Amino acid sequence: MQASQNTITIDGREIPFTAGQTIMDAALAAEVYIPHLCHYPGLPPSGNCRLCVVEIGNRSAAACITQAAAGQEIRNNTSELNAARKALTQMLFVEGNHICPSCEKTGNCKLQAMGYYLGMLEDHFPYFYQRRETDASHPDILLDRSRCILCDLCVRASREVDGKNVFAIAGRGTEAHLIVNSPTGKLADSTMETTDLAATICPVGAILIKEQGYRVPIGQRIYDQHTIRDIGLQEHATKKQEEK
Ligand code: SF4
Ligand code: FES
Repeated sequence: MQASQNTITIDGREIPFTAGQTIMDAALAAEVYIPHLCHYPGLPPSGNCRLCVVEIGNRSAAACITQAAAGQEIRNNTSELNAARKALTQMLFVEGNHICPSCEKTGNCKLQAMGYYLGMLEDHFPYFYQRRETDASHPDILLDRSRCILCDLCVRASREVDGKNVFAIAGRGTEAHLIVNSPTGKLADSTMETTDLAATICPVGAILIKEQGYRVPIGQRIYDQHTIRDIGLQEHATKKQEEK
């Protein structure tokens, strides 16, 4: 299908966009789900998880950092792209210590939910079993770096919404890791509070509010009841409603 002015097509469906909108935002506004882990409505995109890569004509691009342009013909929900997304998800699992049955985030975890959405039945790759520092110094918040997928969401949430800049990612490649901007490098000596968006935005079990882990029983948690697609569309719609 050939798109008309100010529309793109995704998997053959014509979708309107406004100037400056990314493909991700245009898609979600039209209730077309593009899988994502590091995108969050209202935060500037970082383009680091690569789950949202789509095909535009004969090239690939991350939908969250690519502006919509009239006439783009985009493929999103294809078996090839979803297979690549599943492999990426499997790599994220084995790169960290994502042992779902022993993680209190189970059922509320976007990585786990993405695995379900993409039909991931096994980890496929060998686990790294890496050891990264856990920071339990804060009275109310735990940071377990061994589960961090370096999505950068806490960094952006703290900087853009909380106005605090508590987190940063240091190092590159396999050396990349999350650091805390405080005199000691410990969360206890930062300005972080449980009411910060950064305290609740982590898609996995790397940042947890203490003593809440099992308040909602397993089986009644977010992704026990909804798919990550439904929640992704809902998060976008809620943000748009707030902005009105
Ligand atoms: Fe992302 Fe959580 Fe790691 Fe922060 S701690 S970078 S939100 S996975
Ligand atoms: Fe686009 Fe992560 S959602 S790269």
